[in-house]
Amino acid sequence: MEFSWLETRWARPFYLAFVFCLALGLLQAIKLYLRRQRLLRDLRPFPTPPTHWFFGHQKFIQDDNMEKLEEIIEKYPRAFPLWIGPFQAFFYICDPDYAKTVLNRTDPKSQYVQKFLSPLIGKGLVALDGPKWFQHRRLLTPAFHFNILKAYIEVMTHSVKTMLDKWEKVCSTRDTTVEVYKHINLMSLDIIMKCTFSKETNCQTNSTHDPYEKAIFEVSRIVFQRLYSFLHHSDIIFKLSPQGHRFQKLNQVLYQYTDTIIQDRKKSLQTGVKQDNTQKRKYQDFLDIVLSAKDENGSSFSDTDVHSEVSTFLLAGHDSVAASISWVLYCLAQNPEHQERCREEVRGILGDGSSITWEHLSQMPYTTMCIKECLRLYPPAPNISRLLDKPITFPDGRSLPAGITLFINIWALHHNPYFWEDPEVFNPLRFSRENSEKIHPYAFIPFSAGSRNCIGQHFAIIECKVAVALTLLRFELASDHSRPPQLVRRVVLKSNNGVHIGRGKGNR
Ligand code: HEM
Repeated sequence: MEFSWLETRWARPFYLAFVFCLALGLLQAIKLYLRRQRLLRDLRPFPTPPTHWFFGHQKFIQDDNMEKLEEIIEKYPRAFPLWIGPFQAFFYICDPDYAKTVLNRTDPKSQYVQKFLSPLIGKGLVALDGPKWFQHRRLLTPAFHFNILKAYIEVMTHSVKTMLDKWEKVCSTRDTTVEVYKHINLMSLDIIMKCTFSKETNCQTNSTHDPYEKAIFEVSRIVFQRLYSFLHHSDIIFKLSPQGHRFQKLNQVLYQYTDTIIQDRKKSLQTGVKQDNTQKRKYQDFLDIVLSAKDENGSSFSDTDVHSEVSTFLLAGHDSVAASISWVLYCLAQNPEHQERCREEVRGILGDGSSITWEHLSQMPYTTMCIKECLRLYPPAPNISRLLDKPITFPDGRSLPAGITLFINIWALHHNPYFWEDPEVFNPLRFSRENSEKIHPYAFIPFSAGSRNCIGQHFAIIECKVAVALTLLRFELASDHSRPPQLVRRVVLKSNNGVHIGRGKGNR
């Protein structure tokens, strides 16, 4: 009989390695099995929409099928678990009383979600928890004081007018519809750059900022796909995948963009040469505050902290606002009678719109109602996540243990038929003074609620009002039925094919 090399003493290490890997694989399999059993037990009180035994609800989530989501909300109006593969489940909340119970606690953000988001926003205010979050929130709140916001109105007006001039040019050369989202996104970037970083970029008129915007769009898509694809939850598998490679490249674009903002300011502080409009300012902008902030031990923010906060405010401060303005214009184009009422109101207050003041913005009740109704129908931040750090009991007596990842589905809260009559109908009168009192305080939370609510919500509403008012004074908006938006739930609720708005009877 022939002597096999497997019988030599050199084969022993291979045997041992093989047995070791087998044991490791077996241990991992047992761990995953126990994890599944624990999740099944913990989530038993909450019925689950029909699911595939292996993929769970992955396909439904990735399909971005909003009609299916509406059906699910109608069947499971309080909450339901969604399985991402066989070993991970997230708990989705669509009921305002459930949302209230969660938002009145102090559970941390889900690290699962934050880990995937970190290339976009680092460990900035959105991702922080505990005493460090409290310290940053306290330090950064003054950057959004009303007196500072008042000074921003002029900056916003200027940027909106630049965008409207561009639209006028497009419309004068061809009788066409305009894909407004891309313009609004740049306008919003222009505003956040000028207001929070005092940086004049002219990004609306030169295309050097397009790579940053494209990177944001693509990274958001990859983050979302990774979150809902259980194989990509593993860092190793994700890094080796083509998506992982692309992700690394895009991260460099984002990192570099933020870094340039910080380095430019540091240089101008060191040399005393004002490269931006720091000289003209009477107040500390966001970047001044971050760069001069000290913690309780008197130490400055670390370079990583500064980078994280700048990327957080850069992204949170323009992406969601751009989405909200696009959705408002889209809704008004779809509903010409409401559009006309807003226009009359704005014209009565602003005349030709040559100057807008803080007082003007508080005198637009009908336009404000329309903006709120759009934020209800199209909440720019459709989901927020938490990780339960202790057990929770909901008002109906059902409970969940610590360790479960929750999503408060703001979209579902805003579309829940048990709290909104005809939830899909655009009806700004829901927010009239009389009707507002009947709305459950947690049924409409586009900016979240509780201590972790949006720090930039007043900034966002002001920008939205300025943009809508000035647009209505110059354009009549018409819907483009040939290219309806395709909703995609990313970090921000956007349309995959942009937002196309037609031109009405002509410029106003
Ligand atoms: C229409 C526009 C906006 C919407 C719908 C929106 C929505 C939200 C929501 C829902 C949260 C809670 C997130 C969570 O709990 O995970 C949040 C937090 C936050 N938002 Fe906004 N936001 C908008 C605009 C802005 C702007 C303009 C800024 C800054 C200039 C901003 C900065 C932040 C920050 C830093 C947080 C974290 C706050 C904290 O945890 O203390 N947002 N936003």
